[in-house]
Amino acid sequence: MRHVEADGVRLFPVGLGTWQFGSGEWGYGTAYATNVAPRIVERSLDLGVNVIDTAEIYAFGRSERIVGAALSGRRDEAFLATKLLPVLPLDPIMSRRARGSLRRLGTGYVDLYQLHWPNPVVPARGVADALAKLLDSGLARHVGVSNYPLSRWQELERLLGRPVLSNQVRYSLLDRSAERELLPWAQANGRVVIAYSPLAQGLLSGRYGPGQRPTGLRARTGAFRKENLERSAPLLDVLREVASAHRATPAQIALAWLVRHPNVVVIPGASSVEQAEQNAASADIELSAAEDDMLRAASDAYHPVRSPVRSALGSSTGPVRRRIRRVFDGLRA
Ligand SMILES: NC(=O)c1ccc[n+]([C@@H]2O[C@H](COP(=O)([O-])OP(=O)(O)OC[C@H]3O[C@@H](n4cnc5c(N)ncnc54)[C@H](OP(=O)(O)O)[C@@H]3O)[C@@H](O)[C@H]2O)c1
Repeated sequence: MRHVEADGVRLFPVGLGTWQFGSGEWGYGTAYATNVAPRIVERSLDLGVNVIDTAEIYAFGRSERIVGAALSGRRDEAFLATKLLPVLPLDPIMSRRARGSLRRLGTGYVDLYQLHWPNPVVPARGVADALAKLLDSGLARHVGVSNYPLSRWQELERLLGRPVLSNQVRYSLLDRSAERELLPWAQANGRVVIAYSPLAQGLLSGRYGPGQRPTGLRARTGAFRKENLERSAPLLDVLREVASAHRATPAQIALAWLVRHPNVVVIPGASSVEQAEQNAASADIELSAAEDDMLRAASDAYHPVRSPVRSALGSSTGPVRRRIRRVFDGLRA
């Protein structure tokens, strides 16, 4: 199996995302957080998955706690990544918040400490200095960013004077904007693109359609609007066709297609142990050049209906602001 190698680390190309762990918005319930999520982590490690991605914001720190408990006794098998909510990503605030994450994770260091989003009002120089301090103190072995445009990724790296190992961005057959600039630069410079929502939040499993829409946060996501589910149907047909040739599932093909790209690590979430097993196994699926072409063409032909910016802002800024406040309250607890 091909691993992704960068800056001295060796990563299995399929990792595990843990936003779902304890997060009410996914609607998986208490039994999932208590019983299933720990088993997902353990089984993923059994299968060679090493990138385990969490964030202080997920379930107000509960995801970190669940991951930390599940890694107990197996910490060395994981390449553990968490993310900082970058309200003021400067020292000493960043050090304090990193220590909070480490406490919840039950570890003395993280392998990758990521800035969850760029903060346009905080000077990059201060952010770089705070990251340097984390690296020098040994709290983080590597640093990364998330949702960063290429120019800001490069600027931060220049100011840090050391690699900013990865950029975690949305990347799937439904959204390939990472291929424009980020991925070519990562491939040319030995950096990693960590693909989040690689299954388009489950849409690429083929389980959903205009008559079968998910509940919870996904019901409000553009890709799951009825008209967009209709538009993604031809892509799902191609995924099903390729999947049947490999005795695989559409979700596995969607992941296998992504990890064909050098320097890409996918971090799918999972609602069951079985899904996590299937996701790990997708790393072994070899797609042919013809299958790659078919999937690429079907992806190119997907043109979603986009919401007007005004209505998108109207429906999201208030809840987001409220959510950030609740996160801080939760993390203080
Ligand atoms: N940095 C950021 O800003 C950011 C943003 C979003 C996510 N992330 C990270 O990326 C991770 C993954 O993204 P995501 O959770 O948004 O979306 P995703 O990985 O594309 O979708 C996850 C969902 O897909 C379904 N699924 C997973 N494996 C499957 C399989 N083998 N067969 C069928 N269905 C399957 C499950 O939902 P159902 O079974 O309920 O359908 C699961 O909850 C997150 O957990 C988080 O760690 C980061």
